[in-house]
Amino acid sequence: MARRKKVYEGKAKILYEGPEPGTLVQYFKDDATAFNAEKKDVIDGKGVLNNRLSEFFMTGLNQLGVPTHFMKRLNMREQLIRAVEVVPLEVIVRNYAAGTLAKRLGLEEGTMLPRPIVEFCYKDDSLGDPLVAEEHIIAFGWASQQDLDDMVALALRVNDFMTGVLYGVGIRLADFKIEIGRVWDGDFQRLIVADEISPDSCRLWDIETGRKLDKDVFRRDLGDLADAYTEVARRLGVLPSNATHLPKPTLIN
Ligand code: CDP
Repeated sequence: MARRKKVYEGKAKILYEGPEPGTLVQYFKDDATAFNAEKKDVIDGKGVLNNRLSEFFMTGLNQLGVPTHFMKRLNMREQLIRAVEVVPLEVIVRNYAAGTLAKRLGLEEGTMLPRPIVEFCYKDDSLGDPLVAEEHIIAFGWASQQDLDDMVALALRVNDFMTGVLYGVGIRLADFKIEIGRVWDGDFQRLIVADEISPDSCRLWDIETGRKLDKDVFRRDLGDLADAYTEVARRLGVLPSNATHLPKPTLIN
C-alpha cells in the first residue's frame, strides 16, 4: 500500500492524510524535546505509550460528552482523528504551582492553588509560546469571547475528569496543557479537544512519594522517562499487551 501523504510533522507527532475526508492519522514518534527544542532525545517506546494514554483519556472524555478529535486507535503508534482547525493557543490548567507559574509568581513548586487556574499561551515556537491575556486573544482575533468562554469550560471539564481518574490511581494532576480545534457541523461551529493528552503535556506527581511521572523527568534529568510513563500506563491499566519498554536483549556467550 502506498504510504499516506504527510500533512504536518511536529516535534513529537506526524499527521498523515486520513482514509476519509475530514480525518487524519496521527503518528506518535519517540522524540522528546524540551525548552523549545533546545534539549532533544529519542526515548524508546514513548510514542507507543503516549498513543495509548491519549486514547485512554480522550475515549473517557468522549464517553462523558466532552468532545475530542479522537476517533479510534489504528495500531501501536497511530490513531484516527477528526481534522480540525487548531486554535493557535495552548490552554493550560493548573491545580498546583509548578513550572513557569511557580517561577513567575515566586511560588514554591507543589503549592496548592486556591482554585484551578486557566491560562492561555500563544502558539508560536519562535516566540517561545508567550503567555497572553484574553484581551490579546480577542484584539488579535485568535478567538472570540464566546470561544474563550467555551474553551475555559472545556478545559475545566477535562481537568475534572483527568484529576479524578488520576487521583484514583494515586497520581496528582498538578497541571496540563490542551489544544483546541474548531469543527463545523454545517454552519454551526464546535470546539473540541485536539492534539494529545499524555504525560508529555501534564505534570503528574505520585501522591504518596511525590515522584514525577511526566516530562519533567526528561526536562530535569530525573531518570528514565519511559519508566515513568510506563508506570502511569500500568496504573491506568492501559499497558499494551506486547509491552513497550522491555530491556534490550543481552548477548549470551
Ligand atoms: O512546562 P513549562 O515549565 O515550560 O511551562 P508551564 O507553563 O509550567 O507548563 C504547564 C503545563 O503545560 C505543563 O504540564 C507542561 O508540560 C505543559 N506544556 C506543554 O505541554 N507544552 C507547552 N508548550 C507548554 C506547556
